Amino acid sequence: MNPISANSQTIAHVLRCVHCGKVQQTADRMFRCTECSELLEVQYPEWAGAPAGFALRLKETWQARRGSSLPENASGVWRFRELLPQVDRGNIVTMNEGNTPLIPLKKAARSLRLPNLLVKHQGMNPTGSFKDTGISAAISMAKAEGFSWVCCASTGNTSASVAAYAARAGMKSMVLLPAGQVAAGKLAQALEYGAHVLQLRTDFDGCLQILHEVVRKFPAYLLNSLNPYRLEGQKTVAFELMEQLDWRVPDHVIVPGGNLANGSALGKGFIELRDLGLIRSLPKISIIQAAAANPLVRTMRENGGEELIRVNAETRATAIRIGNPASWRKAVRVLQTTGGACEEVSENEIAQAKAELGSEGIGCEPASAATLAGLKKLVNAEFVKSPETVVLVLTGHMLKDVDYMKQAPGQSLLGPMDADSDTVVGTLEKIYARH
Ligand code: F0G
Repeated sequence: MNPISANSQTIAHVLRCVHCGKVQQTADRMFRCTECSELLEVQYPEWAGAPAGFALRLKETWQARRGSSLPENASGVWRFRELLPQVDRGNIVTMNEGNTPLIPLKKAARSLRLPNLLVKHQGMNPTGSFKDTGISAAISMAKAEGFSWVCCASTGNTSASVAAYAARAGMKSMVLLPAGQVAAGKLAQALEYGAHVLQLRTDFDGCLQILHEVVRKFPAYLLNSLNPYRLEGQKTVAFELMEQLDWRVPDHVIVPGGNLANGSALGKGFIELRDLGLIRSLPKISIIQAAAANPLVRTMRENGGEELIRVNAETRATAIRIGNPASWRKAVRVLQTTGGACEEVSENEIAQAKAELGSEGIGCEPASAATLAGLKKLVNAEFVKSPETVVLVLTGHMLKDVDYMKQAPGQSLLGPMDADSDTVVGTLEKIYARH
């Protein structure tokens, strides 16, 4: 319906400001409303006039694509392309992102008396985090528009994903990272995939601020989640989750919150499914922040989501060390529309939850474990009750941040000790006696 730019194909979507509601056909490189400078979101006016049965056919179409080896069908993002901005096949940049497992928890389910407790492990994406779904969507738009450079500011995972997808697309990438505050695994990925990595003496919020200024002066396509196409890719987790649950809507979905795009995208996905008639109700989407990086928690508590309260963020869950989240308005709307909670958890609670997940064979990075820590609080507050179905979204792979694990509680790393079997057996007997 509306061309996004002169050299991209005709696409049936518009960009709507999340604050003043102004609709625009195109966006500049900052992806801001031309009226009030707030964030934009993608909308699809044509859905309103969709013929009856459109939604039902979607389920069948998506299901049928599961068996296909075409890249755009094998992708857990592009398989749902009827609900995404149209991109020519040749411009789709994909590495089979999405398609992540939904795994029931056992020990945590028992201890919380929640028999229907599952994790959706987005850390099983190609670069080990949920970012890949969004980057696949947004970088495909960049390719369609003819960009050769892409860029982002990042706490680490976005940079890894941007670097990998840029390499796949034959583009150059530039990433701004807060010096000394990025987990080693993430930095290694960005370097491996050939990104130009600039470490700045500031935090994530400072990096994003500088990037705003940089993209005005340098022709790179912005891949931070200010870019509304990122959220279009990320919302597909809701579609995939519903397929995995046989279209039975869970009562709760819980995500960690940093820059707040993930919870926003998840909510957008569910709301679109409901508006299309594919599901009848919405899950309560709850967002968990680290207690010392809690701008959304404070905003909800202190002014009901009216005005963002910025904080100086500090947490060992470095992925969510963010005090001035860009997508806060979108996140507030998701909390309000779905009736979800916004909770904070301490550093100890995160470490404990991460160890508990690990003890049942589920690895994730610290930010992801905030979901389980938050769930415990929500159970205590009787916001979550048995036998409700609860899905925790684990956002990143355990190997992203191995330094964190070295200091984690309850580990059993013994030695160095003499390399003889008597020493080993003696040690094992002592352990055996303790159990
Ligand atoms: N979990 C992980 C593992 C993350 O990397 C992030 C964000 C979040 C949760 C929070 O998601 O920002 O959408 O609320 N990481 C960004 C990055 C900021 O640069 O990699 P959010």
